[in-house]
Amino acid sequence: MATNRTFTMIKPEAVAAGHGGKIIDAIIAAGFEIKALKLTTLSKERAGEFYEVHKERPFYGELVDYMSSGPIYAAILEKDNAVADFRALIGATDPAEAAEGTIRKNFAKSKAENAVHGSDSDDNARIEGEFHFAASEVVA
Ligand code: RTP
Ligand code: MG
Repeated sequence: MATNRTFTMIKPEAVAAGHGGKIIDAIIAAGFEIKALKLTTLSKERAGEFYEVHKERPFYGELVDYMSSGPIYAAILEKDNAVADFRALIGATDPAEAAEGTIRKNFAKSKAENAVHGSDSDDNARIEGEFHFAASEVVA
């Protein structure tokens, strides 16, 4: 059964460029309700753990360095069909392939530095949300 929550990070280059507020506005305007939100920084070790699933991919080292390079926003979002709808809102991994009006089309710099993360399944949304937030930091 599809759950109604997903997890996102606004990635370091987007936060550093001052796009955090505009991206959060776009997320809310698309009908997502924020259930948890924080500004935080991932150590290399924590970034490596978060992206463990990509360990064998050629871009893993670069991804870990990038995601630990500066502050990020982490958030849990709620909406019907949250995982799929959020991935539609952010667009393709590579902004060159992302549809007009998507967050990556508007804010991403490159396929690697692509402004936002969106969970790819209900299970991963739960796992990733729990990676970043204690139960007491999430509203009902
Ligand atoms: P995300 O997990 O961040 O929402 O992105 P995604 O599902 O669209 O893409 P995924 O395949 O899960 O890749 C995770 C992140 O790794 C970086 N990446 N770099 N240089 C490259 O070819 C490359 N490919 C992927 C991106 O930051 C991507 O979002
Ligand atoms: Mg992914």
